[in-house]
Amino acid sequence: MREEFDQIIDRRGTASLKWEGMAGRFGVSDALPLWVADMDFRTAPAVVDALVRRARHGIFGYTIRTADYVDAIRHWLRTRHGWDVEPEWLVFSPGVVTGLAATIEAWTEPGDGIVIQPPVYHPFRRLIAAHGRRVVENPLRLEGGRYRMDLDDLQDKLRTARVLLLAHPHNPVGRVWTAEELEAVGALAEQQGVFVVADEVHADLVYPGVEHVPFARQNAARAAATATFMAPSKTFNLAGLNTSFGVIPDPTRRRAYQAVLERYHLDRPNPFGVAALEAAYRHGGAWLDALRDYLADNLAFVRQYLTEHLPAVRIIPPEGTYLLWLDCRDLGLDAEELDRVLLREARVALDPGHLFGEEGRGFQRMNIACPRAMLGEALARMARVLGESGVRRP
Ligand SMILES: Cc1ncc(COP(=O)(O)O)c(C=O)c1O
Repeated sequence: MREEFDQIIDRRGTASLKWEGMAGRFGVSDALPLWVADMDFRTAPAVVDALVRRARHGIFGYTIRTADYVDAIRHWLRTRHGWDVEPEWLVFSPGVVTGLAATIEAWTEPGDGIVIQPPVYHPFRRLIAAHGRRVVENPLRLEGGRYRMDLDDLQDKLRTARVLLLAHPHNPVGRVWTAEELEAVGALAEQQGVFVVADEVHADLVYPGVEHVPFARQNAARAAATATFMAPSKTFNLAGLNTSFGVIPDPTRRRAYQAVLERYHLDRPNPFGVAALEAAYRHGGAWLDALRDYLADNLAFVRQYLTEHLPAVRIIPPEGTYLLWLDCRDLGLDAEELDRVLLREARVALDPGHLFGEEGRGFQRMNIACPRAMLGEALARMARVLGESGVRRP
């Protein structure tokens, strides 16, 4: 399958946000886009086949989620994550972010505090503010090149909050929280009567030797105070199909969530999302394993390239996600100048670290889910401009 991931596929003309939305977002259209989190790989053949079959049918009317659909999700959670969920625990949402928003609306009141752990996926902050809730920050600590949670500060912050929004695996820093960390967070949340809403959209994308443990599996005894959101979107490159799901074990919490979805009439699936999810979760396992090998090789490739040609840019070693958090502080450029040089001179479009919070200043987020040759070209452009020594040439 390696040749398939190596293949460069022209995405222009498909209304791709990453490629054709780049001009609107960055003001350039000829940069190499390694920003938004989708992949430049074709999805699993089984998914393409299912979608083609569905398209050929030719009728795309209102669609439901059948028992087979629910079964496919439960099968995936059981076999890939060792997690048994009851069918009635499952809820649905178009995107994971929609699910998070509906949960915030359902479970909190305006003015309530919601804890986030920056630098973190930027829509978290926006969602909280847009709902008139209060952002409470529990910044991650970078120690010895690895991020960790500040549990003392978390305990403190949870006192004034109603919900903790947990990114697991964490975007952008790439941590996959350990069972011990998840347990500690669960205990603190329980102590303070705080609900944990776990965004686990990257759960399937962990590096060799790393296990993703769902927060609610680890905290099974406390699962009534949790919601977990997942999707085949990152895993199988299906983000455009708007097909995600959540797990909410507590019936009262679940009903409150469903009432919000119904308020906006957001509960209907689309026929392509249904076909794709079932095919992915029933037949996509081997493809995913090959993808993960390819991503691990991409990571090793970037590491070696930077060591040889751009040692001032350091990778924060990721345990999960195909997003690399690059520490560029030793380049000696201020954050805006770094953005400008990368975009205007190197002509690579990365996500600036400060997008994820002030803690991200001097960092960049690079999406490595692309063919190796494309990654090589992006790195060569960066090295050319930032200098072989890692210090920018005057
Ligand atoms: C942590 C996290 N949550 C959610 C999303 C997006 O979810 P969706 O497109 O399903 O709303 C992303 C995409 O990058 C993400 O990184």
